[in-house]
Formats: sequence, C-alpha cells, structure tokens
Amino acid sequence: MNILVTGGAGFIGSHTVVELHNAGHTPIIIDDFSNSEASVLKGLHKILGEEVKFYEGNCNSEEFLRSVFAENSIDGVIHFAAAKAVGESVENPLKYYDLNIGSLIKLIQVMGEFKVEKLVFSSSCTVYGEPDEVPVSELTPRKPANSPYGNTKSIAEDILRDVVKAGMNYQFIALRYFNPIGAHESAEIGELPNGVPSNLVPYITQTAAGVREQLTIFGDDYDTKDGTNIRDFIHVVDLAKAHLAAFDYLNGKSDSFYDEFNVGTGEGYSVLELVQTFEKVNDLKLNYKIGPRRSGDTVKIYGDVSKANKLLNWKTQKSLEEALKDAWRWEQKLAERK
Ligand code: UD1
Repeated sequence: MNILVTGGAGFIGSHTVVELHNAGHTPIIIDDFSNSEASVLKGLHKILGEEVKFYEGNCNSEEFLRSVFAENSIDGVIHFAAAKAVGESVENPLKYYDLNIGSLIKLIQVMGEFKVEKLVFSSSCTVYGEPDEVPVSELTPRKPANSPYGNTKSIAEDILRDVVKAGMNYQFIALRYFNPIGAHESAEIGELPNGVPSNLVPYITQTAAGVREQLTIFGDDYDTKDGTNIRDFIHVVDLAKAHLAAFDYLNGKSDSFYDEFNVGTGEGYSVLELVQTFEKVNDLKLNYKIGPRRSGDTVKIYGDVSKANKLLNWKTQKSLEEALKDAWRWEQKLAERK
C-alpha cells in the first residue's frame, strides 16, 4: 500500500516509515521540518537503502494536501504532523488549535475528495489526565486536558468519532501513545529535540553527553513507590510497529469505523528507576538532582494494553534496557556529527 505519513521526518514518524517499508509498503512523507530536519531523510536512506518520497509542506493547507494526493495513489494515511510542546501550547493556544485541529479537518476533507478512507491518528495518553486508577484502559473515562496541546488530542478523537457516527465512509483508529523513548538500533534516526529538551530521556542522554550539565528530577514527594512520577516508557520501534498493526486491522474494515487503542508496555516505571536503569545499562554515572515538581505533571500513569494485544495482534518486543541503550547510542552518534 502507498501510505502517506504526515510528520514522517519526526521522531515517531521516521521510525514508522522504516517499519512500513520493511513490511513492503511504500511510505510517502510530508513534513515541514518545524520540529525535524532534512538529516532525518538521510538517516532513512541509509537504513532503507533507497530514498523515500518526500514533500515539504504543512498539512494545514488544503491546497498543499490536494497536490500530494493528486500526484500519488494513496491507500491510507498516518497523521503524526502536529505541534506537541505542552508549555508553548499554554502560551499560544491558538497556534495549537489552528495547527493540530485545522490540519486534521483538512486532511479528512481532502481524503474524502480522493476516496481515501483509512487513517491512523496520533493520540496520547494525555487524554486520561490524572487517572483515578492505573493502569488505564480504553474504557477509563477521559478527563479534561491540562493543556491546550492535550485538549487538541481529545478534540481530535471527538472529530474522528463524530465523522464516523455521521455515517461518512471512513475507517479511523486513534492510537493513544504512552511515553515513546529510544531510537532505531542502527542509530541512524532518533529523537531530535528542538533546543532544550522538555522530555525526560533526551534530557538524560544530553546530560550524559555533556551537552547539559545536570538533570533535574521534577519532584520526589509524590505518592508513588519512590516519590517520583510513574510513566509507561515504550520503545519507539515497538510504537512504530503498532501503526502497521493498526493498518492491517483497518484493512479488514469497511463502511464507517472508529476505535481507539492504548499503545504502551503495560508497565509503569518511576522516573528515578528510569535514571538508574540508564546508568546501569550504559555503565555510567549521571549528574542529577532532585528539584521541585513541574506544574501540570501527571503523578502516575501506565496503560492496560490488552485491547491492542488482542485486536491488533500487537505486542511490545523491546525492553526498557534496550530502549535506554539505543537512546544513548543515538546521542553518541549525534555527538560525532558535531
Ligand atoms: C509530556 C506531555 C504529554 C506529551 C508528551 C510528548 C506533560 C504534562 N505531558 O509527557 O502530554 O504527550 O510529553 O512527548 O508535559 N522529567 C524530569 N526531568 C526532566 C524532564 C522530565 O524529572 O528534565 C519527568 C517529568 O516530571 C515526568 C517524566 O519525567 O514525570 C516524563 O516527562 P516527559 O518526558 O516530559 O513526558 P510526560 O510529561 O509524561
């Protein structure tokens, strides 16, 4: 199948492009490099041994989307392209609503014009807010989002659900990602944070590499096993593979269809456990301190992933240890480049 991957030069997008190609599909990338760079395409070339078709542009333009659909016979879409900085979304909510919601609506409309029905959408466990109980399953009620960014994910899910409810001929899946970490084992692609990383693992690897002086763990006085937050850290390659499984599942569907799936490991690790595991598997000492809580952080979340295991026939294959080794290998490769 020819699969359009919006945001295909991004962290999760690029790893998904590799898995699509390995499974015999033809990925076609759209990216505006707002949170990625052209070097990702070179990394993909090295891994795949051939160039991936690429269009530079923003999905929030119907005209641009139309031109891509007109030039290619597209069978389905994976929509990663979105802005994802929580803090920025609080300061500039209109940017987030315009980009994340606008691009989804335009994409669905253009898909309709070209009779493309299948879409896998990047949602987030952020839709659960601070859950009353863990693990969270897809039946766990969503809570009001704690940022405009998070709200765009909830609204996007509502849009997908409503479009399908209206009987329009689309088959949609929303994948609710937990915390993706790691990098491709080749170290040709990985996470490329813009400026100072706000996510944990890139901050850790940059600290280990000497790019940052010290990691601050945001709070150790939470009501958790060691006082630090609990997250479900999933290897990005396992997450990428879930998109393939979602597509296979959608291929068996016709008419109007929508469903959502948690994509995590099913296990919760604390931030401190993650830091200690990073030190152990990479045989190094990390300079870190405990600091104050970061406002808006969820205390504890990890996913019940039995629905994806069962219906999508998908399971994680990689361990936290592998993810943290791969993340470090990638950071070292980045250091060599400079
Ligand atoms: C964050 C977003 C989430 C988004 C995801 C995208 C918030 C509240 N949530 O998830 O909506 O989908 O990024 O990747 O921002 N930590 C430290 N020190 C650091 C960085 C992080 O201790 O320097 C801790 C955080 O307090 C948190 C954990 O590490 O407990 C994970 O943080 P992060 O990687 O930013 O992910 P989330 O906050 O879970």
